[in-house]
Amino acid sequence: MDLDRALRTTGAVRRFSDTPVERSTVHAILDSARFAPSGGNRQPWRVAVIERPATRRHLAGLMQPVWDEYVAAAQQGRRGFNPVDHEPIDDAPHAPNELLDHIEQVPVVLAVAVDLRELAVMDGELERVSIVGGASIYPFCWSILLAAHDHGLGGVMTTFLSRAEPEAAPLLGLPEHHALAATIVLGVPEGDRVTKLSRRTADTFTTIDRFDGPPLVSGRDS
Ligand SMILES: Cc1cc2nc3c(=O)[nH]c(=O)nc-3n(C[C@H](O)[C@H](O)[C@H](O)COP(=O)(O)O)c2cc1C
Repeated sequence: MDLDRALRTTGAVRRFSDTPVERSTVHAILDSARFAPSGGNRQPWRVAVIERPATRRHLAGLMQPVWDEYVAAAQQGRRGFNPVDHEPIDDAPHAPNELLDHIEQVPVVLAVAVDLRELAVMDGELERVSIVGGASIYPFCWSILLAAHDHGLGGVMTTFLSRAEPEAAPLLGLPEHHALAATIVLGVPEGDRVTKLSRRTADTFTTIDRFDGPPLVSGRDS
């Protein structure tokens, strides 16, 4: 697939046909994704392919309350779990989530972990939430989605399991000093996949020299 087209059309897919995805396809996807960059080329990723239905159900049960709280915050006009002013909501009502409801039927469920000992977290001592460490694992996750697209599959990266990492860790045999970075689901999209994604245009978020500088406009002289 043409790279620019892949970048523009790899949207989130959460509904899948019954078509199974062979382990060999999962392997081929990971074999491409492993070329993702990571700080110091430490390649700190581990992947568990979650096949057991009981494990999937257990994990979905851990993700559901996180989803409930996220939705409840959104309904109050707030961005749930943002590191600036998130306020926990203890009594969030059940919010349906098709992906979690049908987790046993999803063709591929991948848990992606990162070895924290391999990260150089340059912003780890600042008085704000650290962001840099994720840059050594999320390009890999995105490459999984791009590679899956190239194999005719769709999927989505989710992070709600990370909130329940302490409970999920023993279920998954998460090694010591590892963090759960993402749960990625993959499969053959049900129906046509969306190819026109809703994204802001580059000029709305790009400025010259400073973040309060003049906007970048296309064309050198303008
Ligand atoms: C870091 C990250 C975390 C995400 N977490 C979740 C999640 O927990 N659950 C979920 O359903 N989707 C999750 N998504 C998918 C986003 O909702 C999706 O990429 C975004 O809404 C754009 O959707 P679109 O490609 O269909 O336009 C996540 C995506 C990223 C990049």
